[in-house]
Amino acid sequence: MSKYVEEINRRRTFAIISHPDAGKTTLTEKLLLYGGAIQLAGAVKGKAAARHAVSDWMELEKQRGISVTSSVMQFEYEGYCINILDTPGHQDFSEDTYRTLMAADSAVMVIDAAKGIEPQTRKLFRICAMRHIPIFTFINKLDREARSPFDLIEELEKEFGIGTYPMNWPIGCGRDFQGVYDRQKHAILAFREFHSGQKRIQAEACDLSDTEHLDELIGERLRSVLEEEIELVDGAGYDFDLDDIHAGKLSPVFFGSALNNFGVEPFLQSFLELTVPPLPRVSEGQTVDPCSEAFSAFVFKIQANMNKAHRDRIAFFRICSGRFERDREYYHVQGEKNLRLAQPQQLMAADRSIIDEAYAGDIIGVFDPGIFSIGDTVCEKTVRLRFQGIPSFAPEHFAAVERIDTMKRKQFEKGVFQIAQEGAIQIFHDPHTGVEEILVGVVGVLQFEVLEYRLRTEYGVEVRRRALPYELIRWVSGQHAPISELNLTSDTRWVQDFKGNDLLLFTSEWCVDWALQKNPGLELRMFNQND
Ligand code: G4P
Repeated sequence: MSKYVEEINRRRTFAIISHPDAGKTTLTEKLLLYGGAIQLAGAVKGKAAARHAVSDWMELEKQRGISVTSSVMQFEYEGYCINILDTPGHQDFSEDTYRTLMAADSAVMVIDAAKGIEPQTRKLFRICAMRHIPIFTFINKLDREARSPFDLIEELEKEFGIGTYPMNWPIGCGRDFQGVYDRQKHAILAFREFHSGQKRIQAEACDLSDTEHLDELIGERLRSVLEEEIELVDGAGYDFDLDDIHAGKLSPVFFGSALNNFGVEPFLQSFLELTVPPLPRVSEGQTVDPCSEAFSAFVFKIQANMNKAHRDRIAFFRICSGRFERDREYYHVQGEKNLRLAQPQQLMAADRSIIDEAYAGDIIGVFDPGIFSIGDTVCEKTVRLRFQGIPSFAPEHFAAVERIDTMKRKQFEKGVFQIAQEGAIQIFHDPHTGVEEILVGVVGVLQFEVLEYRLRTEYGVEVRRRALPYELIRWVSGQHAPISELNLTSDTRWVQDFKGNDLLLFTSEWCVDWALQKNPGLELRMFNQND
């Protein structure tokens, strides 16, 4: 056990996920306001990036010169040290979101009460479920017309196969919205005024048994609806079970209105009580206790161009155990080198500050001269850990990319390799033709445009891109015949990644089934767990 146990246990590191427009940015802002980390609503950027098309995305990046993808925010609240990981809302950057979730210990899912589960919520939830982390649900925009709360929780349970436990229950919605009933405190938090500014709204407590006061607060009709509904929720709903919450099987649900600052602080307080401190991580089959003495961390994200003037690259580390100290020498396991992490920084939306120390659960950004890859471990020399890699997402779109100017081979290769190292694209080559033509795989097509833009502006290389008809990629494993002798459909293509792993590109599920049926012992994986 380290002497930093107290520091580590007061940390809460979580990601906020949502379909664009559900209110993620607004909620994040309100949370930061409570923590005193910002003074003004509107200080958190990033949502604009999530929402816009690629041209705007790039324009925006140029103007702001900062990351448009996920950023990290740290603040203090009632003795807790909170790290919020923001995630890009645009679906084409979902791989980035996935990596960010690898660095989080729990997730908050924001849902628009009028819309319920939306496509991006679905995708992100599945990613959270893969990690079995606690998922908290904030159903937002109750000040607008909303779907029935019963409908909404039933949808969550059916679609996601989890239990839900409404921590509070809404009283009306839209113009009728009167507040929420807190099921734990047995009290009404009355919604008094519509307010979209930065001030906190005072909630008014009132017990359900205090009929007179209730009638006064919310009116007789809503009071009797509430009594009926609470009876139903208490009788037919899931029981509260903290173990199930921690295992990601039961999601505590909160209703509120982020814009009106209603239900945000009660949410924050319950969330902090119910969620987990930094979770143990696995290194080569061994569990690493976050409170153990030795410092260890892994890279979950690499971001180029954080600062246009310096063309810098920042590697984001999630600290898994112990304490980080600025001037100490650590060991980069994959690079097999001792190093000092240069300019360690903590990020606060667009601002950065150099830090001297950080603890398990924290995220630090360090200057990367091009030595780190996603998933790399840095730790105390004595422990030599190697954290489980971050599996690559199976890309869904493929293109062959080659340079137009034959003189620019070096720049082309450097650019493509560096952008791939950041995890912004995945690259492959055909073992027969070599690397003249690089095959690029992406999860969302916007990534192709980002690649071309960055090659042009940062590396001075114009490229030609030819779309390929493949839709599925699988990592090859199992005991099978040599790849060149496999029985495959004629439109299936064998490629390799730059670590030498074999993969197959398929045009349809049918071709995947064919390969599996015709080749005993062949196994095909959607993720590359070996990275
Ligand atoms: P996102 O990050 O999930 O994409 O959503 P964001 O917070 O940007 O919110 C999307 C829109 O929904 C914003 O309006 C925001 O003001 C509004 N909104 C968020 N929470 C609530 C709420 O509780 N009630 C209501 N009525 N609206 C809410 P916008 O007009 O698109 O942007 P803006 O001009 O207000 O910034």
